[in-house]
Amino acid sequence: MRLLVLGGTHHVGRAVVETALAQGDQVTTLNRGVSGPPAAGAQPLHADRTDPAALAAALGDGSWDAVIDTWSGAPAAVGQAAALLAGRAGHYGYVSSRSVYQWPIPDGIDESAPVVAGDPADTSSADYAAAKRGGELAAVAAFGDRALLARAGLILGPYEIAGRMPWWLRRLERGGDVLAPGPRDRPLQYIDCRDLAAWLLSAADRGLGGAFNTVSEPGHATMASLLEAARDVTGQRANLIWVPPEVIEAAGIEPWTELPVWVPPTGEYTGLHNGDVSAAYAAGLRCRPVAQTIADTWRWLQAEGYPPERAGRPANGLDPEREQQVLAGLAS
Ligand SMILES: NC(=O)c1ccc[n+]([C@@H]2O[C@H](COP(=O)([O-])OP(=O)(O)OC[C@H]3O[C@@H](n4cnc5c(N)ncnc54)[C@H](OP(=O)(O)O)[C@@H]3O)[C@@H](O)[C@H]2O)c1
Repeated sequence: MRLLVLGGTHHVGRAVVETALAQGDQVTTLNRGVSGPPAAGAQPLHADRTDPAALAAALGDGSWDAVIDTWSGAPAAVGQAAALLAGRAGHYGYVSSRSVYQWPIPDGIDESAPVVAGDPADTSSADYAAAKRGGELAAVAAFGDRALLARAGLILGPYEIAGRMPWWLRRLERGGDVLAPGPRDRPLQYIDCRDLAAWLLSAADRGLGGAFNTVSEPGHATMASLLEAARDVTGQRANLIWVPPEVIEAAGIEPWTELPVWVPPTGEYTGLHNGDVSAAYAAGLRCRPVAQTIADTWRWLQAEGYPPERAGRPANGLDPEREQQVLAGLAS
């Protein structure tokens, strides 16, 4: 397959490029070149894609079997690229998000659930959910049923620049008593970037279009299996102290950001780790075991170091003093 990856140097894009090269695809990447080169073997093109003329010049008269776009910014950039490529590529895979569903995400929803409004011509990305929905509409406007909308949930695995699992791994490596947010058996839903990449590529090969929730089945892992795997790869220095969700809430600790990955099992977050993924599984999605994802994430961090916090996003993680205060309160 001749593949064009718009992006290709961060988390999902990097996994797509590496997976495609490993299976013998001919890969071109398009980005600004500020994040470093793509994997060896890919042909890099450079442009700021928010500048349509620069994008057109960089793409030249190239044609591809498929495009995969990981863009998370303003929808207009998806629209410009997709319009430019509609006659020169067979398929457009857009990495979208389950954030497009109206909040709070109901329990067990499939792809027919109501989505937020989005404008494919929007030049702003201030509202993430609206931007992802606008990106979906822009991809469909140009590619119709040749557009694939991969509605990912939480994405983990190597190269995770969002820093969620990196924070947990660093915390567990430090050791001692660690606040482990309960319940232990809380089912999780996430996807390893490499499993998402493999599915995107296989879908591109088959010309699969439409919207798919692309995360693991609920309960593929639990809070316990995730954190125990992380404790084990970091040298078993940590003692996981399971804290009930009511205690975490009473302490005013923010789910998702202060305790990355974790959300309480009730209330507005109920559906977040419980989406219907039967369509993606029927279309070939497979998810590797959590221990493999965690071990490979740890190996990547050892080899390349921790990613910097992303500008304009809330920092991940819990202040160590607050953590110990909550644990002390639990013991007394
Ligand atoms: N993390 C999650 O849990 C999660 C969950 C659901 C969905 N998602 C979605 O998953 C996707 C993740 O994508 P990703 O991991 O590949 O990371 P990303 O942060 O979207 O990667 C950005 C890529 O685009 C390039 N780029 C940035 N600005 C550019 C510009 N102005 N012109 C041209 N290229 C530009 C970057 O390279 P240069 O900087 O070198 O240009 C880089 O290669 C996003 O769409 C996100 O919305 C994430």
